[in-house]
Amino acid sequence: MVESGGLENRYTRKGIGGSNPPASAIVMIYLFLIILSIIAVALLFYLLLLLDFATTKIPFVPTPQEVVDQLVNLVPAKTDEILYDLGCGDARVLIAYAKKYRTQGIGYEKGWLAYLKSRLNVWKNKAPIKIRRKDFFKADIKNADIIFCYLYPFAMEKLEEKFQDELKIGAKVISFNFPFPNWKPEKIFKVFYKNKTEGKILVYYKL
Ligand SMILES: C[S@@+](CC[C@H](N)C(=O)[O-])C[C@H]1O[C@@H](n2cnc3c(N)ncnc32)[C@H](O)[C@@H]1O
Repeated sequence: MVESGGLENRYTRKGIGGSNPPASAIVMIYLFLIILSIIAVALLFYLLLLLDFATTKIPFVPTPQEVVDQLVNLVPAKTDEILYDLGCGDARVLIAYAKKYRTQGIGYEKGWLAYLKSRLNVWKNKAPIKIRRKDFFKADIKNADIIFCYLYPFAMEKLEEKFQDELKIGAKVISFNFPFPNWKPEKIFKVFYKNKTEGKILVYYKL
């Protein structure tokens, strides 16, 4: 004779065989899944960084926040001026100017990681800034009052030609650390960050 309580015990409550996996095994499985997800996210992040670098040839290295804080005081802007950051990274320069001077910002950013971070930061700060995931060499810059760049020498060389052809007269160009090959800077400011590292802020005007 089969007792109904016995059947329930064997197949429903305790599972086939009558024994539950021990709690420690379940915890181990959860831990394993969590570690696996962390590794997958880290790998994806690393792959995106590599992919971004392969497409732009200039890594996403933001201007140190200490430098941005000095920059907005050293090189002021006027309300409603249009500020471009070519390769805007996480948009920190555009946001700092928008907060201090109420400038309007346009950021060009080709790298996916930096692009997503910049969109998030702009949204968090509710700043009047548009971010375009596009090559800045193809940017329409005719309305720019100020352009900020933190790039590499090869990009500065190409941009100098583009600015010469397309930028309006009197527009200001600010570069962190990398000069143009031919244009002469109007001003050069020394800035210090991470204790004693020295950097340069170069300010140019389109003549
Ligand atoms: C050194 S980071 C500077 C980031 C930001 N301007 C700052 O100062 O914090 C340079 C950025 O330019 C972007 N970049 C490089 N070449 C680009 C291109 N042709 N078009 C758009 N973005 C580019 C890179 O993805 C990177 O985020």
